[in-house]
Amino acid sequence: MVAAPSGHENWSSRGAFILAAVGSAVGLGNLVRFPAEAGTNGGGAFVLFYVFCVVLIGLPVLLSEVLIGRHGQAAAPISFRKIAEESGGSKAWGTVASLGVFSAFLVLSFYCVIGGWVLYYIGLFAQDIVASGATSGAFADQSFEQVDSYFGGMVSNGVATSVLDVGFVGITVFFVARGVSGGIEKVAVYLMPAFFFLLLGITVYGMFGGALSRTVDYLFTFEPDKLSGEVMLAAVGQAFFSLSLGVAGMVTYGAYVGRDVNLASTSGMIAGADTAVALIAGLCIFPIVFVAGLEPNGGLGLMFQTLPHAFSDIPFGTLIGLAFFIMVGFAALTSSVSLMEAPTSWAMERLGLPRVQAALGVSVAASVLGVLCALSTGSLSSFHPLGFIPMFEGMGVLDVLDTFTGKLTMPIGALLTAVFIGWVASRRLLDEENGLSGGLHRFWLFLVRWFCPLVLTLILFGGIFPETTGQMLGFLSGG
Ligand code: TRP
Repeated sequence: MVAAPSGHENWSSRGAFILAAVGSAVGLGNLVRFPAEAGTNGGGAFVLFYVFCVVLIGLPVLLSEVLIGRHGQAAAPISFRKIAEESGGSKAWGTVASLGVFSAFLVLSFYCVIGGWVLYYIGLFAQDIVASGATSGAFADQSFEQVDSYFGGMVSNGVATSVLDVGFVGITVFFVARGVSGGIEKVAVYLMPAFFFLLLGITVYGMFGGALSRTVDYLFTFEPDKLSGEVMLAAVGQAFFSLSLGVAGMVTYGAYVGRDVNLASTSGMIAGADTAVALIAGLCIFPIVFVAGLEPNGGLGLMFQTLPHAFSDIPFGTLIGLAFFIMVGFAALTSSVSLMEAPTSWAMERLGLPRVQAALGVSVAASVLGVLCALSTGSLSSFHPLGFIPMFEGMGVLDVLDTFTGKLTMPIGALLTAVFIGWVASRRLLDEENGLSGGLHRFWLFLVRWFCPLVLTLILFGGIFPETTGQMLGFLSGG
């Protein structure tokens, strides 16, 4: 690889970059959000439209983000500014990326709260193995109500949630502080293969339970009339969240990519792997849920309530449950590492801090916000500091952060990234960097100039005025 500017680190190989980027993309979004959204939004119609969104909207923006980082070889705001300057655009584009870096920080803050809950469940299952062995179902001698109460008990315990949150932030910073090739890459190179191994193992186990055909029906039966405006919006939003777009995370990782890497094919592999994991996660989770005779519910309850019940009903449930939550923990950690790296690299370059200080500073700030999340879901569950804004009515801090980033800053970040690449960046620069030629190159340009901005504007409206936009889209699609 071509030598990096002094003081700037690079991935040690293309494979390491791919694993790290897949690690960033594969996370709670694939394992919790995708199956839950697919289930509640009409199965096959959602899944098919999701794949369409990944290919036509997610992938072009992913390539744009990695390209900006690779060309700039610096923290996201500096990379944006560099390209703007070279292309005769305004320096203010740097500010757009700063917004992205800030939203990465916000996502980090609540992501680690959920990561902390995963740690708690790893502990629960590990304890159960010690108490009653690995062969039985999980929590064999406990009542349904008791198993059910773990989730509520944990969420409402603000102090425990805070401690777990700080623990998860601590594990994350342990690797981020060690640098790109010394820490971030190491997590990905060891944990991602382990993740795939666990995912495939549990999926194969579930296939023998007898509920595979029901799962396939549930996930893949295509009923076109279920494709409403709201379902479409949910699918695009999920595609962006899952590919880690719109928050400068992939720009940051792109900055460590060497000149000799073909960005188009690499981005395609990253998007493909992320989508495959989301689909396999559906095939992994639902057979276990259905065999236990449970109905899948949405949101976090699917993972933290429905699955523990399911694990208590199947042979080797304790062991499978432990493996499952370790797998979720691995996926969450490789994502939180990338979420932390975006603000860390910003602090290093903007504030001139050494890496360790930068990462620790980000960690302390994220922990403070995380503790606020913990307290407002727990002891102060009626604490709704932004409840006067209609969008955040009745929400605790965690939901406010999730909604604010998911519905506003991520779509805005992705929209502006597409506009920046489509309309500001010089054609020559894109030509040199993107690794595409001929028709594909023109198609990509068309997508980032017209199609992505249009769809992203729709998502933005859809997030703020869900009913009107949903109806409008439903009307257009005849649904
Ligand atoms: N893609 C991650 C997931 O599926 C979550 C995520 C969203 C993310 N935005 C990000 C991760 C930015 C890293 C950087 O769980």
